[in-house]
Amino acid sequence: MTSTRHFLTIPDFTRPELLALFDLAARMKRPGYTDTPLAGRTLGLIFAKSSTRTRVSFEVGAYQLGGHALFLSSRDIQLGRGEPIRDTARVLSRYLDGIMIRTFDHADVEELASYASIPVINGLTDLLHPCQVLADLLTVRESLGTWDGKVVAWVGDGNNMANSWINAAGSLGFELRLACPDGYGPDARILARNQAKTRITLTTDPCEAARGAQVVTTDVWASMGQEQEQEVRARAFQGYIVDAALMRLADPSAIFLHCLPAHRGEEVSEEVFEGPRSRVWDEAENRLHVQKALMATLMGGWQ
Ligand code: CP
Ligand code: NVA
Repeated sequence: MTSTRHFLTIPDFTRPELLALFDLAARMKRPGYTDTPLAGRTLGLIFAKSSTRTRVSFEVGAYQLGGHALFLSSRDIQLGRGEPIRDTARVLSRYLDGIMIRTFDHADVEELASYASIPVINGLTDLLHPCQVLADLLTVRESLGTWDGKVVAWVGDGNNMANSWINAAGSLGFELRLACPDGYGPDARILARNQAKTRITLTTDPCEAARGAQVVTTDVWASMGQEQEQEVRARAFQGYIVDAALMRLADPSAIFLHCLPAHRGEEVSEEVFEGPRSRVWDEAENRLHVQKALMATLMGGWQ
């Protein structure tokens, strides 16, 4: 067991550390940034689930900072044949300077981190998707100036994205309203912990959540690993679409966010997704910038 610094969940960073991360991401995003804090360093990317954005943004980000990223599908490495996580962690720590992992069970990522002597970054678990919410927050800051005093509305499944938004609200102190169908709410412990820190409400009514909100955000109804529940979920989530009518209830300045991939006509209408309030492409781009800042902070040679 080691005391190496990891990023498994947003509260792993203090509020000042999060603010510094966003400042660094903004600096790295500006043209002319040429520092190479990852020179000579390698990040391993373990994927047990599919990915477009996470894989490409980490690979490109590591390269742009002078480092290297190694794609490790869990189907190909011995982890997928049953080599224990704790053994994988200690072996990879002898070669690499950091590990990003995307997998199912959050406890597996915690175990990897507890046995690794290099930083571990959570690239999505069934419980959390913290890197995505960092990118979303950077997008909010760029579009609205700040999240202070703003209301974020989450409409749909109480999934890994919702849980990370709850953590973000608790860490940064903005108001979050979640509208989820009965039985599809967020993690109860994460919710309770953060409701002690800021105003977070849970309702089954999307209109109640969206009314006056400055950010409206959603995600697919069936996440990776829940494909066999697609039909049951489609019935349970009827009425949870972010469409133009729902956006009209939000603040006139409101932006729409979606982590992608999106299912048009299910959780979001084509009109909203492609419309003037949508920031989804900036949001996807910002994965690159926040993760570069994250890699530099955790693995960078200048620290
Ligand atoms: N939003 C996100 O994490 O996308 P990928 O599944 O493509 O990595
Ligand atoms: N909630 C989705 C997010 C995908 C980026 C999933 O876990 O599949």
